[in-house]
Formats: sequence, structure tokens, C-alpha cells
Amino acid sequence: MRIAMIGTGYVGLVSGACFSEFGVTVTCVDKDVSKIDRLNRGEIPIYEPGLDKLVENNAKAGRLFFTTDLKAAVAEADAVFIAVGTPSRRGDGHADLSYVYAAAKEIAEALDGHTVVVTKSTVPVGTGREVEKIIRETRPNADFDIVSNPEFLREGSAIGDFMRPDRVVIGARTERAREVMRALYRPLYLIETPIVFTSVETSELIKYAANTFLAAKITFINEIADLCEKLGADVHDVAKGIGLDGRIGKKFLHPGPGYGGSCFPKDTLALVRTAQEAGAPLRIIETVVDINDKRKRAMADKVIAACGGSVAGKTLAILGVTFKPNTDDMRDSPSLDIIPALQQAGASLRAFDPEGMHEAEKLLPGVVWCDTAYETMGGADALVIITEWNQFRALDLKRVKTLLKAPILVDLRNIYEPEMMANAGFQYTCVGRVSLPAAE
Ligand code: UDX
Repeated sequence: MRIAMIGTGYVGLVSGACFSEFGVTVTCVDKDVSKIDRLNRGEIPIYEPGLDKLVENNAKAGRLFFTTDLKAAVAEADAVFIAVGTPSRRGDGHADLSYVYAAAKEIAEALDGHTVVVTKSTVPVGTGREVEKIIRETRPNADFDIVSNPEFLREGSAIGDFMRPDRVVIGARTERAREVMRALYRPLYLIETPIVFTSVETSELIKYAANTFLAAKITFINEIADLCEKLGADVHDVAKGIGLDGRIGKKFLHPGPGYGGSCFPKDTLALVRTAQEAGAPLRIIETVVDINDKRKRAMADKVIAACGGSVAGKTLAILGVTFKPNTDDMRDSPSLDIIPALQQAGASLRAFDPEGMHEAEKLLPGVVWCDTAYETMGGADALVIITEWNQFRALDLKRVKTLLKAPILVDLRNIYEPEMMANAGFQYTCVGRVSLPAAE
């Protein structure tokens, strides 16, 4: 089997590398010459654990190629995956499909022999049909089938998610297309992964329904956390107590500063718009979007309250700015709202992130970037954890205390235990758990 992967962004690169690990010959295509040059030199443009080794091994084995030549890659492929970006369009929240449609046109011109054209990018319901129309109009005699095959990869654990998924969703119209997709995912049949075959439209909707459901689940536990603070209850115990009910499930019940990243914010907005236009508004998701937006400002207020009601003239040490750990991705990270709100309230900020600072420097002006976690703390009035990188879970608390002016720690990811922090003499604030007074 041979495939072409159009777009070497996050989804395209991970999916291409993983398919080559399955034994498929994969050609990854991108218009960006310098990116392709870098990939051909073995440099990986994104941070994803394990991806560099996977690319290196499969490139060496002659199963993974990088090129700017879309025509040649498509002509020899049994299946072509569209994995280009679908950013939120400015103004209306709809996904911007111009890259998908441009790719469809180029693919149409290059098709040779029967080919399955698969959309992997997250696209609104109806996009597959539109892709089919574009190809048909460009090449009326082309022999092709369209398929929707959404990805459910989480950044930071994308390779494991691809190799051992909970399920694979495939929307196809013909048996011939289903056969090609079965062949591509053959190794997953061996580990008995459920493969859900549906229509193209249903498959497109499954992706949005999954992501918006998870965003709602996070938002639910975030609101329960706020309620816990008022009632003196513990949100971790609530999450455990409800999550053990198999109908609810344990995952995605961790409270925090609100969801971010490249998927949930964009996909919730896009589905809200689609539903409104279809005359079947998703009021629950409209509310989720609104609550999550406001939550980030509320987190800045939480920090200000922990600092005695004002941060004017104070210095804050910030640990973690990416939207979650194990990624360098800053897209829609809660830090992008929390940090400017603290600056506006008069605070000076010193920050450290293991992988995100290169990107963050451009997005968060006025922050002093430090080389280590401890360097942020020297003379700071308080310490704030925004992202739960593993290395922040085991800080030398004695050292932290001697570095900070006052032992104030605001932990927006609940990576420490209130009791342990009180015993260590910290004035500790977290999310949805009772904070105990610091021991003398
Ligand atoms: C998500 C989906 O999980 C994945 O299936 C889809 O393909 C792409 O979008 P990703 O954005 O990489 O993946 O990250 P994820 O781990 O899902 O986290 C998203 C956001 O929710 C992060 O900001 C994270 O911190 C937050 N989150 C997640 C919580 O606040 N609490 C949780 O319990 C889980």
C-alpha cells in the first residue's frame, strides 16, 4: 500500500509516520520547502514525544518520504489523506476550509488510477461532499472515492493514540473504499480495535461531537470545582466518586484553568455555528464556550486574591505556559489570557516553560523568560503554576520557600496536596479543594 499525506502539520506528520510504522509506504507532502528540507535532514518541526525516532527509523527503512511534489506523490498513491490546517475563520468562528479545498483541486489534477481521497483534518459536516464535487468538477473522469477518517490524537501522546486507539471512525460510501481503509489499518485488527464504519457525514459529525462532549465534561468539573470552593467540598473526591460510575467515566474530570489547545476551542465554536445555521442550536455547547472563555479571567482573579487582593507592583513567578504539558503548543493556552490580565493588574512576571518559551516569547510581551523553574522564583512575591509539567510536580519546596519573598503558591492544576503544602508552610491555593492555613 502506498499513501500520500498532504500537509505535514501536527496531524499529517504524526499520521504519516505512524502509517509508515504500520508498513505502509508514505509520502508526506508540504508546500513549505524549508519544512520539507528540514524533515529530510531528520529535523522534526514540532515537539511530540517519540516522533523523531519514528520518523528516523521509517525514513531509513525506505517507507517514509518527504517532498514538495504533490503531483508525483498523489499519482502513485492508493489513498491520499488531506491533513491541512482548518483554522477558525476570523469573525464568524467557522472552520476556514480554503486549504482543504485548494488541496482537493490539486489532488484532482494529479489523480492516476483508482484512489481513495480521505479527509483527516477536522472538517464540518458536508466538507467531504464538497471535496467530492471539487474533484468531480476538476476531473470529470477521475476514478476515486471519498472517505472521512477523523483523528482523535492528543498532543503529547499522539503516537500511542494512533497505534492503540479506542476506536477508528471511517465514513465511506463504497465497499471498495472500505477495503482500502481496512488494509491501511490492518495492524489494528490484530489488537481488536473497534472500527466504526458510517456514512461520510456521520463520521464528520462524530469528530465534533466527541470533542465538544469532552470540552463540556471539563467545563462541568470546572464549575463543580468552583462550587466545591464555596461549599468546602473536595473536587478530586467528587470526580472520583462520580467517575467510577461507568456511565460517566473517570477521564477528563480534572479541574483546571479551562481547556485550550488547537482543537477544543476551535471545534466547539465551529459546531456551535454549524448547529445554529442548521436550525438545531446546541445551547449546552454555547454555554460551555462562554464559561470557558470567562474562566481564564477568573483564574487571574484567583491569583490576585491569593496575593491579598492586589498584584500591583508585585513580581509573580509563573511555571508553565503551554496549553498542557509535553507539547510546545501555545494555541489558545489559558496562559495567553491569564498572563496579560495579571500584567494589566500591575504585576511583573518571570516565567519558565520546558518547551513553550520560544513560541510564548512572541505572544506574551513584557514577560522575563528564565532558564529554569527556580530562576523565576528569586525575590518573587508568589508562585503560580499554570501548566502541569512533570518537573513541576516535585519541586524542592524548601528551596522554593527560601527563594520566594512570601510562601504563596497558586496551583491552577492541582498538582500538590493541600495538606502537604500547609505542612510545608505554604499559603496554598488550588482549584476546587479546601486550602488549609499554612503551618508556622
Ligand atoms: C484533544 C482531544 O483529546 C483529541 O482527541 C483530539 O483529536 C484533539 O483535541 P488535545 O487538544 O491534544 O486533544 O489535548 P487534551 O489532552 O484533550 O486536552 C485539551 C485541553 O483540556 C487542555 O487544555 C487540557 O489541559 C484540558 N483538560 C483536559 C483539562 O482541563 N482537564 C481534563 O481533565 C482534561
